[in-house]
Amino acid sequence: MRHHISHKGFILFFIIVIGISYLVFTLISSIQNRINPPASEVRLLPIPILLEPSVSDGQSSTYHITVQRGTTNFIKELQTPTLGYNGSYLGPVIKLSRGEEVTMQVKNNLSVDTSIHWHGLEVEGSSDGGPHQVISAGSTWQPTFTINQPASTLWFHPHVIGRTATQVYYGLAGMIIVEDDHSKSLNLPDEYGVNDIPLIIQDRSFNQDGSLRYTNNMMDGATGQYILVNGAITPTLNVSSIKMRFRILNGANASHFNVRLEDNHEFVQIASDGGFLEKPVLMNSLFISPGERAEIIIDFSTYQKGQKVRLLSNKKVMMSFVVSDDGLDETMIPNELASIERFDESLVKTIRTIELDGMGHMVTINGRQFDMHRIDERVKLNDLEMWEITSIRSMMMGSLGHPFHIHGTQFQILSRNGQEPEANEHGWKDTVFVGSGETVKILVQFKYRGIFMYHCHILEHEEAGMMGQLIVE
Ligand code: C2O
Ligand code: CU
Ligand code: CU
Repeated sequence: MRHHISHKGFILFFIIVIGISYLVFTLISSIQNRINPPASEVRLLPIPILLEPSVSDGQSSTYHITVQRGTTNFIKELQTPTLGYNGSYLGPVIKLSRGEEVTMQVKNNLSVDTSIHWHGLEVEGSSDGGPHQVISAGSTWQPTFTINQPASTLWFHPHVIGRTATQVYYGLAGMIIVEDDHSKSLNLPDEYGVNDIPLIIQDRSFNQDGSLRYTNNMMDGATGQYILVNGAITPTLNVSSIKMRFRILNGANASHFNVRLEDNHEFVQIASDGGFLEKPVLMNSLFISPGERAEIIIDFSTYQKGQKVRLLSNKKVMMSFVVSDDGLDETMIPNELASIERFDESLVKTIRTIELDGMGHMVTINGRQFDMHRIDERVKLNDLEMWEITSIRSMMMGSLGHPFHIHGTQFQILSRNGQEPEANEHGWKDTVFVGSGETVKILVQFKYRGIFMYHCHILEHEEAGMMGQLIVE
């Protein structure tokens, strides 16, 4: 009997020891190579500088952009090796006016190839900055184009085969703001850095030494442990109790965000990828997939001075707003923001079917993977086309869906699963999320010649071959 009890006791002890060491082991391995920013650390939201043209006569301007290495301080005193445009991480904001003739002087100071793609900009294929416009190490690329599209929030990032995802992850991305006479005539918040604020949202992981940790999780691309806004981990922005405009860019490699205020306070969306919506759309949660932009206005006048309200994505904190003073607000959100001429479906000349399939490295468009030497679609200049884009639902555990992007144009969403698109998908778009099993029909017209890419904007999917090219002629 006694012997029996001690035997039981031994087994129990053994199980406890195994259990504890298992817990300790998982705990250690989960914190190993990870680093937590101290909770007390308050980082203010960095506001990227506006890029001044080096030459300008009002009608044409030249901008200088240098692609460079650097180090950036994200956590404690640690210096993180990063990439940036004219700086160590991200880039300046480039504000352009409709009608302006722009020359970009892009110098590559890296030791490897890059390219710089103007995402959302309607220009000739040769100026697009896709994989065909490689800027080799040490060289300069100098495209000239004229801005000829409505006021909007666009962006730029590398697009070079094999390096897009990592170069973006290490910091290469920047915002473009296009203005036009109409946007200037509206009384919306438009004072850059004051009541008109860029929010470039990304997620990143770090190693213990502070270096960025890039891990492609094999499913839906590289996600990160922390949310960075304008290159700072969960920063704080002091705001006045006025209407503030935020130009949100999902600059993540692979993550979707569901942007909302922690108290579910309402806000309005005024613009999508390619410019103003016809009417402001009231919402308390905004879904935004990689590559997409949304301009929203939050009215802080209902908050008390000193109040703090956090911006979340699901349960994760993105950033905090602290209402620090009451400001004078003379801005106004009109009921009609823009008039958008709808494409007429009956004028469609060509219908194309796009099937997005797979996950991880096994991703295809219409059953094929990207081939630089193959043109997948031939398009006639100015023809109206309908594209039916389907995200195939796989039998097994599949991808959540794909943010589908087309270069060199802005399109209109005709339907989502046979239904009218949501109010905030009624405007100009260049990237549309196609959830697993969904079919989205778009109407699109190409107004510029050349070779353009279309692809999933989960950068790891793009790199794995979920990209095709079209030629407009
Ligand atoms: Cu944002 Cu092909 O790019
Ligand atoms: Cu693009
Ligand atoms: Cu994808």
